Amino acid sequence: MTTKTIPHVKGDFLLGNLRQYKADPFQALCDWQRDYGDLVSFRLATRQFYLFSHPQLVEQALVKQSHNFVKMYNPQKPTGLALILGQGLLTSQGDLWRRQRRLMQPVFQRSNLTSMLPQMVMAGNNLLHRWRQLGDGAHINLADEMMQLALEVITQTMFSTSVLDKITEIASALETGLKYAAKTVANPLTPPLFIPTPANRAFKHASGLLDDVIYGMIDQRRTQSTAQHDLLTMLLNARDDDSGKPMTDQQIRDEVITIFTAGHETTANVLTWTLYLLARHPAVLAKLRAELHDRLQGNTPDAEALQQLTYTRAVLSEAMRLRPPAGILIRKVSRDTEIDGYAFKAGSLAIFSIYNIHHHPDYWQQPEQFDPERFLTAEKRRFAYMPFGTGDRVCIGNHFALLETQLLLSMIVQHFDIQLVSTDEVEIEMAVTVRPKGGIPVRLNRRQ
Ligand code: HEM
Repeated sequence: MTTKTIPHVKGDFLLGNLRQYKADPFQALCDWQRDYGDLVSFRLATRQFYLFSHPQLVEQALVKQSHNFVKMYNPQKPTGLALILGQGLLTSQGDLWRRQRRLMQPVFQRSNLTSMLPQMVMAGNNLLHRWRQLGDGAHINLADEMMQLALEVITQTMFSTSVLDKITEIASALETGLKYAAKTVANPLTPPLFIPTPANRAFKHASGLLDDVIYGMIDQRRTQSTAQHDLLTMLLNARDDDSGKPMTDQQIRDEVITIFTAGHETTANVLTWTLYLLARHPAVLAKLRAELHDRLQGNTPDAEALQQLTYTRAVLSEAMRLRPPAGILIRKVSRDTEIDGYAFKAGSLAIFSIYNIHHHPDYWQQPEQFDPERFLTAEKRRFAYMPFGTGDRVCIGNHFALLETQLLLSMIVQHFDIQLVSTDEVEIEMAVTVRPKGGIPVRLNRRQ
């Protein structure tokens, strides 16, 4: 059977497309889809990549052939996120992943999540209180504030503790770590960690700091006498079905740092981008406030009230379409395979661009427009909308994230007006997650 040719992005003889990718990975992936189509091949130095930007191709690869498109992490030689997360749920594979996913799933079930609402409300109230004290007209960086809020939510709900006293160091260490992780995937020529380059030293420092925070939380729990019913207790008490042994300290550390990172970086970005988009679209904001006023009259919603907030949900869904916090998924092609007559070589890396799929003109009318109404119809979108990924590796925290963002958005929007300091459009920066470049400076005013 003849195979179809996958268009290849023109590049340098030696480095391939590394220069363009390194300069701005987000822009490069958008440009290559526009210029070459929904399936593209490119090369970063010695590494061969495929870029998937079409829902049906994603379904083929991530659902029907998930055994051929696997997580890329190799515990013996970790790269990318595994450098920070080790073998936690996001990065592990095979039996280890299956066992840990089964073990952790009950914590993330919808029925269990409502018990975490009080901690989420408390974190939201603390933010509102802090903002009130700043006084009207106060300038803040919205991205930093949302990061702090989401960090408080994840540590309180999952680990019954707070790390806000170290927020500045944690935020900066995570930024350094995530950027470094993204760089090691993009550039196979990155010097190995044992070579003391400034970037390697900065990464080691950042990851040491994060380790201190995570091990600090675990140690603190081990010496506590009061029982907590949270994810950390579950991890500490878990016993292997066959051997009866507890998890190793390293495995507990990897799971904790995974939930810590995946559980706040993403939701912080959703809240930041949603509030930014609302500030630029007063008609949407007005409609959102009308719903909140009708349903809540200034009160904080409980689980039942959250169910009724259909427009609020549509606003968040649309914000996650336009600015998906996880802009791309990465897999390794584990053996030579074929999809739709296209051949994929074993050992290559596949990038699935959630961003490109969410902006695909065949699936979305006026894809650049912020229009929550499109989520009020019953239209099925399947793989054209996948902010939480798809297939068996779909996000374990999706219901948690929806509950959290709906609650916090409704609290913030009811009590504060948020004005952008600049009318310029905020640029997107992609280092694992899709962040606003340089943050978003805003002015706060209390609503009566
Ligand atoms: C709006 C917020 C969130 C978004 C957009 C998001 C997005 C994603 C995506 C796209 C994946 C799939 C990654 C892949 O296929 O390689 C994923 C996986 C994962 N997410 Fe989320 N996530 C969010 C919130 C959360 C929260 C709140 C938690 C934890 C409390 C969490 C924990 C995880 C974990 C552990 C995985 C790995 C699951 C597995 O492979 O079994 N995420 N997330």
